[in-house]
Amino acid sequence: MGSRSINSGGKSSVWAGLALLVSGARAIAMPDGHTGKVPSLGWNSWNAYHCDIDESKFLSAAELIVSSGLLDAGYEYVNIDDCWSMKDGRVDGHIAPNTTRFPDGIDGLAQKVHALGLKLGIYSTAGTDTCAGYPASLGYEDVDAADFANWGVDYLKYDNCNVPSDWQDEYVACIPDASTSGPNGTCTSANTPNLAPPGYDWSTSKSAQRFGAMRDALAKQSHEIVLSLCIWGTADVFSWGNSTGINWRMSGDISPDWDSVTHILNLNSFKMNSIGFWGHNDADMLEVGNGDLTVAETRTHFALWAAMKSPLLIGTDLSQLSQDNINLLKNKHLLAFNQDKVYGRPATPYKWGINPDWTYNSTYPAEFWAGPSTKGHLVLMVNTLNNTVTKEAKWHEIPGLSAGHYEVRDVWSDKNLGCLSSYKAAVAAHDTAVILVGKKCRKW
Ligand SMILES: *[C@@H]1O[C@H](CO)[C@@H](O)[C@H](O)[C@H]1NC(C)=O
Ligand SMILES: *[C@@H]1O[C@H](CO)[C@@H](O)[C@H](O)[C@H]1NC(C)=O
Ligand SMILES: *[C@@H]1O[C@H](CO)[C@@H](O)[C@H](O)[C@H]1NC(C)=O
Ligand SMILES: *[C@@H]1O[C@H](CO)[C@@H](O)[C@H](O)[C@H]1NC(C)=O
Ligand SMILES: *[C@@H]1O[C@H](CO)[C@@H](O)[C@H](O)[C@H]1NC(C)=O
Repeated sequence: MGSRSINSGGKSSVWAGLALLVSGARAIAMPDGHTGKVPSLGWNSWNAYHCDIDESKFLSAAELIVSSGLLDAGYEYVNIDDCWSMKDGRVDGHIAPNTTRFPDGIDGLAQKVHALGLKLGIYSTAGTDTCAGYPASLGYEDVDAADFANWGVDYLKYDNCNVPSDWQDEYVACIPDASTSGPNGTCTSANTPNLAPPGYDWSTSKSAQRFGAMRDALAKQSHEIVLSLCIWGTADVFSWGNSTGINWRMSGDISPDWDSVTHILNLNSFKMNSIGFWGHNDADMLEVGNGDLTVAETRTHFALWAAMKSPLLIGTDLSQLSQDNINLLKNKHLLAFNQDKVYGRPATPYKWGINPDWTYNSTYPAEFWAGPSTKGHLVLMVNTLNNTVTKEAKWHEIPGLSAGHYEVRDVWSDKNLGCLSSYKAAVAAHDTAVILVGKKCRKW
């Protein structure tokens, strides 16, 4: 279909459900105590192949993830998106894999993927049909969750298409993406008819119930499955996603162009408070290697997705990916920030740049971002203009730092830049300067 993207992640894995059953509360604890704590890393078929999928494409992706060193860098999920089943409907009450595409079934593919040291993800929808029109899981959560678990599936991307009328939400949550929004991306009932009243509890909405039903079904299985909510930032998922899944999409689908990258960056910059251990805003699958993105735009896209602690799911044909892009996906400083086990919060904007702080603007989103990590403060300066601009990171403007000299390392070149009292760089059009600011220097 067209458009839902992939990421999933989820905190509420099956195990979350177990916790639910046991405690009656929400379910988030994983039995292994680590799956879902930090963003999921992997690959998904949609951006590369859409519905044109078969077992060989997943095996080829899996083998390349291993041989190119991406598995060693942390990428472990190989995720099937839409279109994997028989399209006409359920077979004996179950969603049946299309055996022309998957001759050994999903369980057979899972065994081969697991043998390579990777995990397998699958896709369904909290509606009557998937986005591409295949049978989906609303009302069949227990049957489908049991099938996924029996097949050995480790991750479920759960989409949001074809919601029947009796499952529609009573209200609409503010989605600046989809309505005319006011300053700071806020909505009013004038620009968003049927806007939920202030204080409305979205965890009681039909949307939360639809996604919660799959969380509960997964929780009853004895195999852990990470739940990723592909809910496009609707129903104020930011307020209840953490009690339902490991990650949740915060926007509509990404496309491989600069406008889409800045659009998502702008939207997500206002939604940073819901991100932390066990719960991540999914900025959608990566477009590294795809479409019209220039080298500079590609690295801005990857750096910011990593800094915002989005799940990082590669979405391209790995056999065609350049070595430069493989190296970008393996950037050790960005991955270490994204996967930090001690600091769970993302980098956040500390200054907008082109526009005044907190201005909602898809073309010129926040340009100056920073966040602490085990290795120091990651600082990013995005150039949203079409020409080279000299930008300066001033320590006293960055939360957690103060005036003085700090040890600075360039994240792209991995070069130690020495002790600096600020960092100035000529940033090319749509590129991003990224540094790690370490310890304060003693001598100064
Ligand atoms: C199964 O996949 C094949 C190959 O893509 C396709 O031609 C066929 O229509 C699919 N069958 C069903 C029932 O979806
Ligand atoms: C915009 O939103 C942010 C985050 O919610 C808030 O901190 C800030 O004060 C808001 N600014 C304005 C002008 O409303
Ligand atoms: C999500 O919930 C877990 C507990 O299940 C909690 O530890 C974590 O801090 C929460 N994350 C966010 C971003 O609220
Ligand atoms: C976005 O910001 C630019 C620069 O300030 C401004 O010219 C443009 O009108 C803004 N766009 C919108 C939709 O407000
Ligand atoms: C930047 O370039 C794009 C594409 O050529 C163009 O649409 C846009 O108007 C330019 N922006 C500015 C501020 O010149």
